[in-house]
Amino acid sequence: MPTPYYDQAGITIYHGDCRDVLPAVTDSSVDLVLTDPPYGHNNNNGDLAHRREEALGLVKRGVALAGDARPIANDGPEANELVRWMFGHAARVIKPGCCCCCCCCGGGPDPQFARWSLWLDEVLNFKQMVVWDKGGLGMGWHYRRNYETILVGEKPGAACKWFGGHSQGNVVRISGIKPSADDHPTPKPLALMSLFVRMHSESGDLVLDPFMGAGTTLRAAKDLGRRAIGIEIEERYCEIAAKRMAQETLFGIGG
Ligand SMILES: C[S@@+](CC[C@H](N)C(=O)[O-])C[C@H]1O[C@@H](n2cnc3c(N)ncnc32)[C@H](O)[C@@H]1O
Repeated sequence: MPTPYYDQAGITIYHGDCRDVLPAVTDSSVDLVLTDPPYGHNNNNGDLAHRREEALGLVKRGVALAGDARPIANDGPEANELVRWMFGHAARVIKPGCCCCCCCCGGGPDPQFARWSLWLDEVLNFKQMVVWDKGGLGMGWHYRRNYETILVGEKPGAACKWFGGHSQGNVVRISGIKPSADDHPTPKPLALMSLFVRMHSESGDLVLDPFMGAGTTLRAAKDLGRRAIGIEIEERYCEIAAKRMAQETLFGIGG
């Protein structure tokens, strides 16, 4: 494995391209892959929401706000092949009976959730598409988006590792986050990532996020007593994540 950027108390962060780091992760060594890759739409919610508000005259034109353009690496059409590649490695590194939970966009105009679901099903057994209801209205004009999806694939060969009992539904309502200018532009709520860590792993298990961002998955894993590996291509987000790992409680971008 390459030299970690951060390595303390069972939490390891690699600064680099997951295409370089992931192949070094041992086969069948991980209990849960939980990740939030670039969706490939060349923007982020904050940017689009801001542009829409500008167009509607709700905010002054040209003013830089927290949601102003801060592009994410590999967030163009290349995201699709990157995610497809990642699914192959997720299937390799997770143990039989364990799951890969991958955040994905909501509805159209790009039927990405359908494409990615089929790709996940090529290498793992497609188990479920969970809907994350973000509460308020999101971007878009017609059918404005207020949900995203989390695709869940399970590796065959053992009983599914599941700690959610029989009362967990496949729609979860958790408020989205408006990041500040210093945060990652598209953070996931801590409550959302914590839910998947709790459902699919137990204390001491190893959780892997190959598109770590500012480390929400790792923070959830740490809070719940799991070990974790995160990989992130942008050093500035590794730095935020490392700071979050050192904190007892969260600062702003959790939920
Ligand atoms: C949607 S964000 C993840 C946000 C994260 N869930 C959080 O709460 O902070 C996706 C991340 O993947 C990173 N990324 C893109 N391509 C990558 C690659 N090839 N290897 C590792 N990280 C990559 C981006 O820099 C970005 O921070």
